[in-house]
Amino acid sequence: MRFRSAVLALGLAVLSACGSGSTDPAATSAESPESSDPTAATTSTLESATISFGDDVIPVISDNCASCHTGDGPGTTHLDMATAESFDGIAEFIGFKVSEGEMPPWPATNGSEIDFLWDLSLSDDERDTILGWVSEGGLIDVDPSTPIPATEPSFPPVEADLVVAADEPYAGEPGLIDDYRCRILELGTTETEWIRALDVRPDVREVLHHGVFFLADADTIEDARAQAAEDGRPGWQCQTVPRIGRSSAFQITAWAPGTGPMVLPEGAGIRVEPGDYLIAQWHYHYDGEIPADNSAVAVEFWDAAAVETSGGQLDQVWNQVLLGPVEIPCAEWEEGPLCSRTAAVARIQEEFGFESTLIPQFVNAGCGVEPDDFAAFTQGTASSTCDITVDGGEVVSLWPHMHELGTTYRMTLNPDTPDERILLEIDRWDFDWQMGYYPTEPLILADGDVVRVECGWDRSLWPAGLEPRYVVWAEGTQDEMCYSIITTRAS
Ligand code: HEC
Repeated sequence: MRFRSAVLALGLAVLSACGSGSTDPAATSAESPESSDPTAATTSTLESATISFGDDVIPVISDNCASCHTGDGPGTTHLDMATAESFDGIAEFIGFKVSEGEMPPWPATNGSEIDFLWDLSLSDDERDTILGWVSEGGLIDVDPSTPIPATEPSFPPVEADLVVAADEPYAGEPGLIDDYRCRILELGTTETEWIRALDVRPDVREVLHHGVFFLADADTIEDARAQAAEDGRPGWQCQTVPRIGRSSAFQITAWAPGTGPMVLPEGAGIRVEPGDYLIAQWHYHYDGEIPADNSAVAVEFWDAAAVETSGGQLDQVWNQVLLGPVEIPCAEWEEGPLCSRTAAVARIQEEFGFESTLIPQFVNAGCGVEPDDFAAFTQGTASSTCDITVDGGEVVSLWPHMHELGTTYRMTLNPDTPDERILLEIDRWDFDWQMGYYPTEPLILADGDVVRVECGWDRSLWPAGLEPRYVVWAEGTQDEMCYSIITTRAS
């Protein structure tokens, strides 16, 4: 119990997040899609095709892809599906993305024993339709100009009461490829409000990698402004949770392109007192150009009637942070001075300060493990697990987080008991698709329930050309985390 609350405090103080995970889609597209029948393209004709693009495929695309891949959807700059013509000649590429489970982006597997709202995955029939069309040659049997309508939104709509950005745009420094910048976003509320939803309105999409959002108390704003004035450029450098005065701000949610908004269920909200403000931690990733960005956040408050219905008081949501160990030795094919754990920890101290070196120590102690327990992981993969006692409450969402070496993730409620339940399982962690998972049915945690988190990593994902090192818990892109947030509401 003591460990848990300490972990909670520390966890909020260390959430970083993240890396530059830009995977080059062109690289994947070059791989040959094994899913399709190699003979299909030559043998099929319009007559032999049993699956019609117009009648069968367009409805699937409209329901499952078009809202992200048309208009100002997050996937449109990568692939614009506005008309049937967009699909001409790329059937195999589409088939590859679908058969690999990369598109639609929904990393959770069927191993998750609960259903989630806004599940983006395809049904078996929908998948068969797309893959069948691909294997029959991917013919376009309609006029190429036929529009592909977006019939289903991918994410819940947000009706913004407020769209707020920082007071001026920010541009990074030359030489800094991954730039974490905290900005003050003033909400200007004059009475108590309850946040229902939060979404991001990206400004310069090319450089905006992700955002993490915190709610801070009104009486800390002078400290925050002072911090923002320190280096003469708008905002301040912040790789971890912003610490303002004595308090660290409350993390509301995180966002990356395509992950959708945070939307709280009926009767639940995040209380905002007059003068409370948001801090956005923007992660910029620059590939050459360093354009100034001033991305904004859209906030929707519960309307007065909704608050009234709940007796003037909504359920406050809050986060429990679950930390698992990270001890990833170099694989047997890697070598270098930083493959020594001691040297790797010294590097962390140099880069992020002494406090950061306490985190691996603290997490290991809480989970009852030592670095030596991981010494055998020299085959190129590593994993860790931790059982954590949680507080009761109704789960609003589950949010797992690892960096770029991450491959597998699992969260299990009351493991090794007759009531064991896998809450969330991911078998292909994708740094670019970090979603919050909102259970469809009420999921109630009891005080004292145990949640097991399991994380897996793969050393072959270590960036080519970067000196290998023993990886421990820390906030840098190439460091790792086994970090989860369970958001609950009082029930
Ligand atoms: C939630 C939004 C979303 C949904 C739903 C979605 N996509 Fe995507 N898609 C993206 C984004 C963003 C990218 C670019 C980043 C990436 O590849 O992960 C992308 C990339 C792709 C690419 C690679 C394009 C390129 O040239 O790099 C293909 C192909 C694709 N999507 C096909 C589909 C298909 C087919 C569906 C439906 C079955 C679908 N997508 C559903 C957001 C989405």
